Amino acid sequence: MKYHIAVIPGDGIGPEIVREAKKVLDRIGEVYGHEFEYEELYMGGCSIDKFGDPLTDETLERAKAADAVLLGAVGGRVGVDSWYELPPEKRPEAGLLKIRKGLGLFCNLRPAILFKELEGACPLKSDRSQGGFDYVIVRELTGGLYFGYRYTKEINGEMTAVDTLIYAESEIRRIAKKAFEIAQKRNKKVCSVDKANVLDSSRLWRKVVAEVAKDYQDVELSDMLVDACAMELVSDPKQFDVVVTENMFGDILSDEASMTTGSLGMLPSASLAEGSFGLYEPSHGSAPDIAGQDKANPIATILSVAMMLRYSFDLQAEADAVEDAVKEVLADGYRTGDIYSEGTNKVGCIEMGDIIVSKIK
Ligand code: IPM
Ligand code: MG
Repeated sequence: MKYHIAVIPGDGIGPEIVREAKKVLDRIGEVYGHEFEYEELYMGGCSIDKFGDPLTDETLERAKAADAVLLGAVGGRVGVDSWYELPPEKRPEAGLLKIRKGLGLFCNLRPAILFKELEGACPLKSDRSQGGFDYVIVRELTGGLYFGYRYTKEINGEMTAVDTLIYAESEIRRIAKKAFEIAQKRNKKVCSVDKANVLDSSRLWRKVVAEVAKDYQDVELSDMLVDACAMELVSDPKQFDVVVTENMFGDILSDEASMTTGSLGMLPSASLAEGSFGLYEPSHGSAPDIAGQDKANPIATILSVAMMLRYSFDLQAEADAVEDAVKEVLADGYRTGDIYSEGTNKVGCIEMGDIIVSKIK
């Protein structure tokens, strides 16, 4: 099969990590007889520099026409990069929000996995993390506070700012369905996170999720308030399988979750539309401080490619091959700087990519 992939290297370390991920895809193509064709697109700071816009309509159309999108990272340093002197809707991150909405990427999967080989990097006490944990945060990505109407204006003689947290039943239903479907392929547990003791949008969320649950009798549903969840993620992460939540809560909880794994450079993510289309990117940012120094960890991006193979192309054996190659390389003791510990073998971004490629046979 031939697959057309829109590739957005972006800013900072984006181009380096994406290059390694493409090497891995090419190797998968060779071994399994697929052809991956790439079309490079601009988004974020580099697109502002080139077109004066973090994401042009033409780029969005091109991304739409692809079978899937691979993204490195966008953004730079506030106070350092001139992009942040622009109004908010012209900054690099605005490109990210525009592509999410424009491609209908309502379902964001953010796995939190404690890799056995990296247990030492976990900041939690060992009795809480022993045996590892493996759950996924399913974050609603095109609704809520991020896309509700907003304004800043003078009211009663003082500046007042408004953001609105808005959810329609259909938006809750479709993300809940995804969460239950994913749980059916995992450990059959969904924890829905909201703030139903305060917010109307959360009360509707809880009601709709409970309705959807009736169609998935094999999956156990629980509800948790977001503040309690913030505690449980650090006190007992092993209890979770699938955590589903609205956009803003998911933004915050997924950062907390990634931190508990001790290896942000290892975590992939997928943002899915209706059907099989998706955008795949590492969970970490553009790390401008180490850009261009061959220090970045390409594993999160390589594992994002595995998610692409699995969710957009339904190539399960190929996805397993990428994940197994990563595990093997970790077991062999190779580490980039961010996950290095004494007694392991420190390698750069390019070498890490090469070694992973060499394990795919
Ligand atoms: C993320 C990021 C973005 C978000 C920012 C950069 C707009 O924090 O992907 O989690 O808040 O969604
Ligand atoms: Mg975030």
